[in-house]
Amino acid sequence: MSDLFDLDTMTPAEAAAELERLSLEIAEHNRRYHEDDAPTVTDAEFDALRRRNEAIEARFPDLVRADTPSRKVGSAPSAKFAKIRHAVPMLSLDNAFADEDVADFARRVRRFLGLSEDAKLAITAEPKIDGLSLSLRYEKGRLVSAATRGDGQVGEDVTANARTLDDIPGELTGFSPEIFEVRGEVYMTHADFAALNARLLAEAGEGAEGEGEGARKARQFANPRNAAAGSLRQKDATVTKSRPLRFFAYAWGQTSELPGETQSEVVAALQAMGFQTNAVPQNGRTEPLMRRLETVDGLIEHYRRIEAERASLGYDIDGVVYKVDDLEQQRELGFVSRAPRWAIAHKFSAEQATTVVEEIVINVGRTGKLAPLAKLRPVTVGGVVVSNVTLHNEDYVAGRDADGQPIRGGRDIRIGDTVVIQRAGDVIPQVVDVVIEKRPDGAEPFLYPDHCPICGSKAEREINPRTGRLDSVRRCTAAMTCPAQAKEGLKHFVSRNAFDIEGLGGTFVEELFDAGLARQPADLFRMEFDRLRDVIEARRRALSEARRQAEGKAEPAKPAKRNETTKAIDNLLGAIEARKTVSLDRFIFALGIPEIGEASAKALARHFDDVRALIGGVDAAERGRPGEDWAELSSLNTIGGVTFERLMTVDEAKLNDTEWKPLRDGELGLKANQRVALRERYGEEGEGLVEALRRAKAGAPGDAFLRLTRDGDIGTVATLSLIHFFAEAHNREAVEALLDAGVSTTNERAAPPPASSPVRDKIVVFTGTLEKMTRGEAKERAEALGAKVSGSVSKKTDLVVAGPGAGSKLVDAQKHGVKVISEDEWLAMIG
Ligand code: IVH
Repeated sequence: MSDLFDLDTMTPAEAAAELERLSLEIAEHNRRYHEDDAPTVTDAEFDALRRRNEAIEARFPDLVRADTPSRKVGSAPSAKFAKIRHAVPMLSLDNAFADEDVADFARRVRRFLGLSEDAKLAITAEPKIDGLSLSLRYEKGRLVSAATRGDGQVGEDVTANARTLDDIPGELTGFSPEIFEVRGEVYMTHADFAALNARLLAEAGEGAEGEGEGARKARQFANPRNAAAGSLRQKDATVTKSRPLRFFAYAWGQTSELPGETQSEVVAALQAMGFQTNAVPQNGRTEPLMRRLETVDGLIEHYRRIEAERASLGYDIDGVVYKVDDLEQQRELGFVSRAPRWAIAHKFSAEQATTVVEEIVINVGRTGKLAPLAKLRPVTVGGVVVSNVTLHNEDYVAGRDADGQPIRGGRDIRIGDTVVIQRAGDVIPQVVDVVIEKRPDGAEPFLYPDHCPICGSKAEREINPRTGRLDSVRRCTAAMTCPAQAKEGLKHFVSRNAFDIEGLGGTFVEELFDAGLARQPADLFRMEFDRLRDVIEARRRALSEARRQAEGKAEPAKPAKRNETTKAIDNLLGAIEARKTVSLDRFIFALGIPEIGEASAKALARHFDDVRALIGGVDAAERGRPGEDWAELSSLNTIGGVTFERLMTVDEAKLNDTEWKPLRDGELGLKANQRVALRERYGEEGEGLVEALRRAKAGAPGDAFLRLTRDGDIGTVATLSLIHFFAEAHNREAVEALLDAGVSTTNERAAPPPASSPVRDKIVVFTGTLEKMTRGEAKERAEALGAKVSGSVSKKTDLVVAGPGAGSKLVDAQKHGVKVISEDEWLAMIG
């Protein structure tokens, strides 16, 4: 992320500049993490910044800054709390990422202690809990203060907060030395974290009609670590008390007396004093997670065991900590800057985690797509709790396609499977592996439904026109009569890039649907005040009931205030009224026609004045629709306009020649990938292709169809989808109903091109990289001047505008003798 300069060729001036930048950036991330409990980068990204800082410092030791992040731990304590100076600094740990780093650690320790290769060296291994560290000071066995790590030297006084945790004894059991500081980690379990977030959402829900769901969600915590830190560091300790925090003890600070001579003995003593430790079995496991081991192989084996158990612990860990067991050896080893020499943290990959598929559910989308979703045992990956992951489609779940052939990246995922989840950057989480060895006995392949789980209608897989093969997606065939599709359609209709109705989020739309107020888009514009009152009051009641339960209050929820409800209804109706007039492209996009995305909707809006004109165009196109073979051939992904044109103009004589095998004889000038696609569809030597070509020629579409694809610039598949949409009476009725409800459109499409335009009626092709405008802008501008913009070069093309990187279209232009000009020449030409 910060490879601005290559380390090897970096000059001292560049190094100094980057060290300064890194110091500021790391300090800012530290502040966000430690003070705000709201980091903006993942742990892995943060580690990368630190590593880069260290690498530059290693190369330029003279440039190490006084404020270098490599010597600092955490961040200065917040002004919100009183400060406590740690009697013994709270340090950090060095990290190991690879097995080799662990072997290096053991070698370093041996060398430092002067131990030979075969001398005994005992090292403990225990989970590294992902929470925040806390130091508890006991004097004569009584808790006197509690402090966060802060910058390692001075922490925040959170004594009152710490006293509210059940896991933190106010008095030690059976041990009361003058001074004994216990250190460990405050954390939150996954279950408690989920419940807390649900509660925060309910609390924020009150009166939230005007507030987007996004804003309400923003009040929740991103992961259990943030939740633990945010809950402990509360000014008001009663808030901390209401939060489900836990504490594991694993280390100590200042001590006037130590109850053991090894790490493992002292941890066992901590257990006896009344602390939770990892030295005893937890969560129904039979063995403790902390082990004392004597070989590097043993450490790594235990690391793997902990990693495998990670998903079933119920709380987040981010690695395994190794510590030299003998305390005398620890003392001898001592510290370097911010970390002890006697310990190291072996981190898990920050972007992957293992967990279990608890259930596979099928959601039904706007276009009827049955979308499989794996419900996971929650796991934190890259700083975010993941409890769902998409399984894409039927073939993906089965790991094979409809013909039973294994698919690339396909995995055969079953309920109960242990899976590896990856979440890199902001990419949605994916299953990257199934741990077959951990598949439970008797786990059956997932039985994919062939009926819609919502409405029970048949769900089918159709031929995908772009590939000519059975589609990987199975769809509910009930269209808008399926409640799931109708609801999703409504949500799409009000969404940001469609009608963009303020304050009308997804759940609210569902409630309106369920109450029967909005079954189709037009209903939104006819909702009555009084019936809305019922829905909104019910919504408010449900929210405050949820809140009341979360807070454990006994008294019943107060009824919603009447004038507040009235205001909410007025706001909503006002927002809807405000969108009664929208641009034509939004209107078209909002209809949710398959294949018609924003770009196609815009293209159509450029060519039709209003909705009725569009419907007229579609009806005309429907009368001239092509035969199946023409549609199929022109839709195949690999067959572009030029190739298709060539196929359509094959000599009649050839088509009548019974000896001619188009794919064997190779006379069609096809590229390899085109031949593969055609072979798959029409047989090895193209046996079926001759007939298909003959029928395609006979079934060529009429002008109106071609005009819609060409003017609308939307391709055969999208044009057929438009025709299909408007062929359904209920869709036409839904559109009419919108117009009847008073919805109207505006269209700012350019005035007719000036008569003097130099490119009027010229067919222009843009190719290569344009540097002064985007493709879309170039096209829009050219069309405004009356040019026709095409995607392929043929003998009819008038002009090719070529930028750097232009390839085959340039060759085609030369072949057809079409004039080629540069982007600058084009701009000069159109003025
Ligand atoms: S020992 C002198 N043991 O990880 C070092 N730390 O990255 C004493 N942590 O500051 C720390 N689990 O907040 C230790 N089992 C464990 C731990 C652990 C989590 C945290 C701790 C520490 C940080 C270092």
